[in-house]
Amino acid sequence: MSVRRSIVRGVGGYLPARVMTNQEIASRLDTSDEWIVQRTGIHERRIAAEGETTSDLGLAAARAALADAGMGSDAVDLIVLATSTPDQTFPASAVTIQAELGITRGAAFDLQAVCSGFVFALATADRFLNSGEFRCALVIGAETFSRILDWNDRSTCVLFGDGAGALVLEAGEQPGERTDRGVLTTHLRSDGRYRSKLYVDGGPSTTGTVGQLRMEGREVFRHAVGMITDVVEDAFKATGYGAKDIDWFVPHQANKRIIDGSAHKLGIAPEKIVSTVDRHGNTSAASIPLALADARVDRRIKPGHLVLLEAMGGGFTWASALVRW
Ligand code: ACO
Repeated sequence: MSVRRSIVRGVGGYLPARVMTNQEIASRLDTSDEWIVQRTGIHERRIAAEGETTSDLGLAAARAALADAGMGSDAVDLIVLATSTPDQTFPASAVTIQAELGITRGAAFDLQAVCSGFVFALATADRFLNSGEFRCALVIGAETFSRILDWNDRSTCVLFGDGAGALVLEAGEQPGERTDRGVLTTHLRSDGRYRSKLYVDGGPSTTGTVGQLRMEGREVFRHAVGMITDVVEDAFKATGYGAKDIDWFVPHQANKRIIDGSAHKLGIAPEKIVSTVDRHGNTSAASIPLALADARVDRRIKPGHLVLLEAMGGGFTWASALVRW
C-alpha cells in the first residue's frame, strides 16, 4: 500500500561573512581559546553584519535549497521558519521570506521552540504535506543570536553564532516499505518546568524589550544527553531501526561534549557524526539544516542514506527525526 511521505528535494545553508574567533572574544573578556575549545569544541562563529536580519539569512538559505532542488519558488506553497530571533515581534519573518521569493499562495509562519525549533518545524511541515493540504514546503531555521547575547557574560556569549539553513520538502508517494524515502518519523517533547534554565530576560508582554539570553549552563548540560537519547530511542522504537542502521547522525550543534556523549550513549560510531560546531558555534534552530547543508556540499549524505536528527534546547524542548534521503 503506497504511503504519502515528505521527501527531501534540496538543502541549503547561509553564513554571514564575518568570522569571530575565540581569540577575538578573549581579547576583550576574561576567557581563552583553550577554555572555550576544551569545554565546547567551538573555535569560531559567524556574526551577522549590521542591518543583516534573520529573514535575510533565511532567504539566502532558502534560495540555496531551491537551487539544490532545481526548483523555482513557484513550487512552494508552505514556509515554516523556526526562529527565536525574528526580525520583528510581528509579522512572522516567514512572510518576509515568502514575499522576497515572490510567493503569493499557500501559507508562511514562524515557529518557536528555541534550539529544537528546526525539528519541530520539520514535523509540522511533514504533517501538512502528509495531509495533502500543502504540496511543497520550505523548512527553514534562521537565527541572529548575536543580537540577544550579553557580550559581557563569558559563560554564554562564547557559545552562540548566527546563520541559516533550509530544506525543500515535497510530498510524494512511496511504496510503504522499509526502503521508503522521506521523513519516516518525528518525536517532539517539552517540559516547561525547566523554562528558567535557559531563557531570554525580556519580551513584548513582560519588559517591552528584546532582552538577553540567560542560562544555567551546568543544568542544561546535566539534562541534555538523557533527553536526547530518550527521544532518539522513541524514533528507533517507532521505526524498528537502531544505531547500527544510521548512516549519518546530524545533531543540534550545541556543544561537542553533548554531541559526543549522546552518540556514545546511543552506540553511534564517531565517524557517522556530522559536526560543524567547531566553525559555527551554536546557531540554535539553524544548526541542524546548516550541518545538513555542509554534508550536502561535500556529498557525504547520498540518496538512500538514513539520517538521524535530534535537538534539545530552551523550554526545555527536545526532539528527534529519522529521514531517508
Ligand atoms: N571562559 C573562562 N571561564 C569560564 C567561561 C569562559 N567563557 N565561562 C564560564 N567560566 C568559568 C565559570 O565562571 C566557572 O568559574 P568558577 O569555578 O570560578 O566559578 C568555571 O568556568 C566553571 O563554570 P561552569 O559553568 O561550571 O563550566 P562548565 O564546565 O559547566 O562549562 C558550559 C560551561 C560550556 C556552558 C557547559 O555547562 C555547557 O556546555 N552547558 C550546556 C550549555 C549549552 O550548550 N547551551 C546551549 C543552549 S542549549 C542547547 O542548545 C542544548
